[in-house]
Amino acid sequence: MEIATSVLSVTDQLGQTMKRLNMSSTDYLHLDVMDGKFVSNHTVSQMDEAVTFNQKPLDIHLMVEDVLPFIQKYQSLQPAFITFHVECGKDISSLLSMIKAQGIKAGLALNPSTKLDQVMPYLKDIDLILVMSVPAGYGGQRFDPKTTNRITTLRNLRSEHGYHYQIEVDGGINRETVSMVQQADIIVSGTYIVNGNIEERIECLRQGAKA
Ligand code: DX5
Ligand code: ZN
Repeated sequence: MEIATSVLSVTDQLGQTMKRLNMSSTDYLHLDVMDGKFVSNHTVSQMDEAVTFNQKPLDIHLMVEDVLPFIQKYQSLQPAFITFHVECGKDISSLLSMIKAQGIKAGLALNPSTKLDQVMPYLKDIDLILVMSVPAGYGGQRFDPKTTNRITTLRNLRSEHGYHYQIEVDGGINRETVSMVQQADIIVSGTYIVNGNIEERIECLRQGAKA
């Protein structure tokens, strides 16, 4: 189980938080990039500031309408993952290939209200599926318990078909809800981790994952 920490809900002292995060055991910095169109929130400048302090592998979550410019913007950072939303609708396969052509793992994200059918055609091609346990757009939302079954379904599909994607879950994950996502490979958490002792809370999520 790996941990990706989101700094979306960090409103002030971002530099301080990033310094503590760099010294922590988080496996990734989860960068929540929002364009104010795909979701009403706009976080590009906040995320660009976070990147200036960052020393961890990057897990970039694009919540944007026009994906291509953001792939081009971030590819030079050589992130571990670039993930965009299947709901963006446009030429998914070519965007996935573009990310992979840069040697970056390509992910597809889906909101809780989006049917799994929408991602089926791409499961053989992706390196990561990002299962949203809250609607994309804001931190601090409540975990959607339907997520647990989605993760199980995606695990079953992976073993039945020999797919290779990792399963990441994102939204409302804390000491209470982590036990419901034990089958995920990567857990994203923001509000819970950054609003306490970062290392202790990361360890708590890892333990919860092992419980
Ligand atoms: C929401 C983001 C999530 C969110 C997670 O659109 O994709 O990464 O920041 O934050 P918490 O853990 O606060 O729900
Ligand atoms: Zn996210």
